[in-house]
Amino acid sequence: MPIVNRISDLHAQITEWRRDLHAHPELRYDLPRTAGLVAEKLRAFGCDEVVPGIGRSGVVGVIRGAKGGNGAPGKVIGLRADMDALPIEEANDVPHRSTVPGKMHACGHDGHTAMLLGAARHLAETRNFAGTAVVIFQPAEEGGAGALAMIKDGLFERFGIDEVYGMHNAPGLPVGRFATRTGPIMAAQDLVTIDIEGVGGHAARPHLSIDTVLVGAQIVSALQSVVSRNVDPLKAAVVSICMFQAGNTDNVIPQTARLRGTARSLAPEVRDLLEERIGRIAEATAAAYGAKARLDYRRGYPVLVNHAREAGFAAGVAGEVAGADKVDPNIAPFMGAEDFAYMLEQRPGAFVFVGNGDSAGLHNPAYDFNDEVIPYGTSYWVRLVETALPG
Ligand code: NI
Repeated sequence: MPIVNRISDLHAQITEWRRDLHAHPELRYDLPRTAGLVAEKLRAFGCDEVVPGIGRSGVVGVIRGAKGGNGAPGKVIGLRADMDALPIEEANDVPHRSTVPGKMHACGHDGHTAMLLGAARHLAETRNFAGTAVVIFQPAEEGGAGALAMIKDGLFERFGIDEVYGMHNAPGLPVGRFATRTGPIMAAQDLVTIDIEGVGGHAARPHLSIDTVLVGAQIVSALQSVVSRNVDPLKAAVVSICMFQAGNTDNVIPQTARLRGTARSLAPEVRDLLEERIGRIAEATAAAYGAKARLDYRRGYPVLVNHAREAGFAAGVAGEVAGADKVDPNIAPFMGAEDFAYMLEQRPGAFVFVGNGDSAGLHNPAYDFNDEVIPYGTSYWVRLVETALPG
């Protein structure tokens, strides 16, 4: 029993929604059109409750199953999609191209939102389960911690959610395939900022200055030893310095410099080690040259850790939809970050990847969500609820 039949019938309509969302991207928490459209559709589908404004612009829909029937809410399963786009100028020349300069759905959240809407429509129509399905549409996945905002707004308590599931499309994974794993599947993402203070001066009299360009370059080099010499070789970590800002002209040694980058890890002890080593190396390297360095280390999204039972369950449901041989239940972790991690700190659940085929990569200006994924992702959501809440 692969794709749910009725979902095949809805494919064209869900594609239309997806392309409409794609043409009208919105950023972070500022999602008046997107969140408004989601709430309007959930009401039209006949959801028992539709609550906008959770975590500023998140939307929640509640659908009660028709099986069981003793009036109790039963077990409550949360399904989560993200709604926000990215500040990227779209390079695609397609009819549903972004109509907003400098903004585009380059991570497929348009597809995630449309697929969960499709599932909500089907679940509200059929109600072939015992218990409650809660569809969660969150803002600000891209760097704004919208999931955390919804949690702080009482998401889990207010709707009595027992388990929560998430899904992201994966370019490079063929359409019709799923992948997941038990344990850490995406990384903790921390922001590194190092401010260096030296002594500015004339470029022709370097002996009277303390050159922050040289000090910054030495710090960037020395930081390469953190992953290669301090982290256990069997554990994963990334330290990337991606910005080096210093100076304004060619004949002045700059007084200050700033380095910025990211530190990624999959385990709490590695995360602590990265923070400690980056700070020590920056300060000590600067001191060796008579300069000062100060580390500002900001912890961002935590490690996304799939719970064992729920990851196994999710892989089983994906196997039912796509065929067991099309599901990788033990994919290697990915060092990107995802704020669904906050939700899995609150409740058991699992995150899965669904193949987007050979599209451009996520966050690339030529990326586009593949509409052929819709029957797989939507059927997965529907079958997840029906299987978890059989009655
Ligand atoms: Ni994304």
